[in-house]
Order: sequence, then structure tokens, then C-alpha cells
Amino acid sequence: MLIKKPEKIPSTEITSESAYLNRRSFGKLLAAGAAMAAFPARAAVPVDELTPEEIVTGYNNFYEFGMDKSDPAEYAHEMTTEPWKVRVTGEAAKTGEFDLEDILRGLEVEERVYRLRCVEAWSMVVPWMGVPLKKVLDQFQPNGNAKYVAFETLKRPSEMRGQRSFFSSIDWPYVEGLRMDEAYHPLTLMVTGVYGKPLPNQNGAPWRLMVPWKYGFKSGKSIVRIHFTRRQPKTTWNLLAPNEYGFYGNVNPNVDHPRWSQATERRLPSSLFNQNRRDTLMFNGYAEEVASLYSGMDLARYY
Ligand code: MTE
Repeated sequence: MLIKKPEKIPSTEITSESAYLNRRSFGKLLAAGAAMAAFPARAAVPVDELTPEEIVTGYNNFYEFGMDKSDPAEYAHEMTTEPWKVRVTGEAAKTGEFDLEDILRGLEVEERVYRLRCVEAWSMVVPWMGVPLKKVLDQFQPNGNAKYVAFETLKRPSEMRGQRSFFSSIDWPYVEGLRMDEAYHPLTLMVTGVYGKPLPNQNGAPWRLMVPWKYGFKSGKSIVRIHFTRRQPKTTWNLLAPNEYGFYGNVNPNVDHPRWSQATERRLPSSLFNQNRRDTLMFNGYAEEVASLYSGMDLARYY
């Protein structure tokens, strides 16, 4: 995990609206000029550029394949992603084992540009493709007892060298979860592609979650089980270090990690000489859309 001192840099933030508009409307680059041409009403707000594809697909956290940022790109090809079965269990009318193909059939794939903020204090701007999680979950008809949805990701040590590693302290599989209202929020996406191509293994093929207002660790990769439950599910990083990683994982510049500040972030590409540092935004800049989900909650306690 990175330890960085905060420093003040005026940020060229994306409007929360423009950050998730269908990128087809934007043209190829999400640069200020392109946005101005397409949306004169928002022309006053500068927007960020997309993080280059080779960084999005080459600098990854996917501990199933190793601890180094380059390990997933090097080793994730060892994972088989076809066919892909998904088990649906718990508080829903329709449960069982489903082919991912059948789950996704008929759903329109949207392209959305989201900021991705890792709890380690680096960030990217990524053109994901996917379907709103709501459209996936609705198919299974969760019932009134479903207060949370839990996600389990692939455990297959024969193809995931990180799961065979003696040094791994993670109790596999990697598990995550959301409150139902978070899962049903229109920004929450099940990602199946990036940069106009099918999702590469290192980014969580064949599908992974993307919850743009939360730290990246909430967005599990290579999901094989969806479980509807009345109880708050256990989550991998919270199990490992409960005082460092909470269930919520909302991006919050005012609540530091116990070992480093969360006030700023390194926007990739970043180097030793040019860190490309900028202020971290509350809820990663999506406050207008999601702050109401947490009204009345003490966000320092529920981090
Ligand atoms: N999902 C699984 N299964 N295993 C992981 O190690 N890492 C998480 C998240 N999802 C992780 C995971 C973390 S810490 C981050 S920051 C994001 O994936 C990184 O996504 P990216 O590599 O596509 O940028």
C-alpha cells in the first residue's frame, strides 16, 4: 500500500454528470474540447482525459494473480473464463446456477466513463462497458428480506497462482457486498468490457462490479456468486484489517486511512517527478447522485 503526503493541486474535475454519460456521445477522447462540443451547457467545467488503455490494463490489483501491479497482466491469461456459471442464492424468487450468457442476454451494454479511486491513493479515468447491476438483479426477483447483496469471486487455485501462494494472507475467495439501495443505484455497473473491447482477464473477466463512488476494493472481479441476504455480508479487506477497511468503502477525503492521507490522489499516469496529484473528491465526485444514500450516517464511523 502506498503512503503519500497530501499536497494541494487545483483539480480539473469531471462534472459528476459528465463522468458517467454514455461515452458514445463524447467522441473518442473525454477531453475538455470534446465535451464542450457535445454539451455546451456544461462547457464551463473542464473534464479529465481518459487514462491510457495500457495503464488501465497493465497496472492492476487482482491479488489472485500476485501482489505486484504487473502480475495480473502477466498471469491472468491462465484463468479460463468460458463457460462462466453464476450461482444465485438467498432471498430471491429465482435462484440456482445460470450461464452468464443467459443472464446478460437481451441487456443493452452501455459505455460509461467513471473515475476509479483506489484506497491506495491512485486513480484513473476509465471507459467501462457494462449493464446496470439493477437490470441483472431484477431478473432474480429479490424479496423483501434482501437487505444486502453479497458477491463471491472465482476461487480456482489451479489457474490463479496468487491463491496458491504461501505468502497470501487472504482467505479465498475474495468476497464483497453492497446494501441493496447501493446495488440498485443507477451508477452501479456490472462491467463486461473496457475501451470498447471485451474485459481483459486482468480487469476481472468475464464480468466485474464497478461502484464509482467507492474505493476500488468494493468492485469485485470475476464474480461467480450473487447472494441476497438480510445480514451485512463479510468482505475480504474488512476481514483482513477491520480498522483500515470498512464495509462501506466510500471515497472520503476527510477520513484518512490509519497509515496514509486520503485527501489527495495520484492520477495515473504518474511518475516520481510528476505525481499528477489532485484533490480527492467526496464520494469520488459523485456526491450529488449518492450522498442521500448515507444521510444521517456518521461517515467516520461507517467508513
Ligand atoms: N477483485 C478481486 N477478485 N481480487 C482483487 O484483488 N482488487 C480490488 C478490485 N477488485 C481485487 C478485486 C482493488 S483493491 C481494486 S483497486 C480494483 O479491483 C482494481 O481494478 P482494476 O485492476 O481493474 O483497476
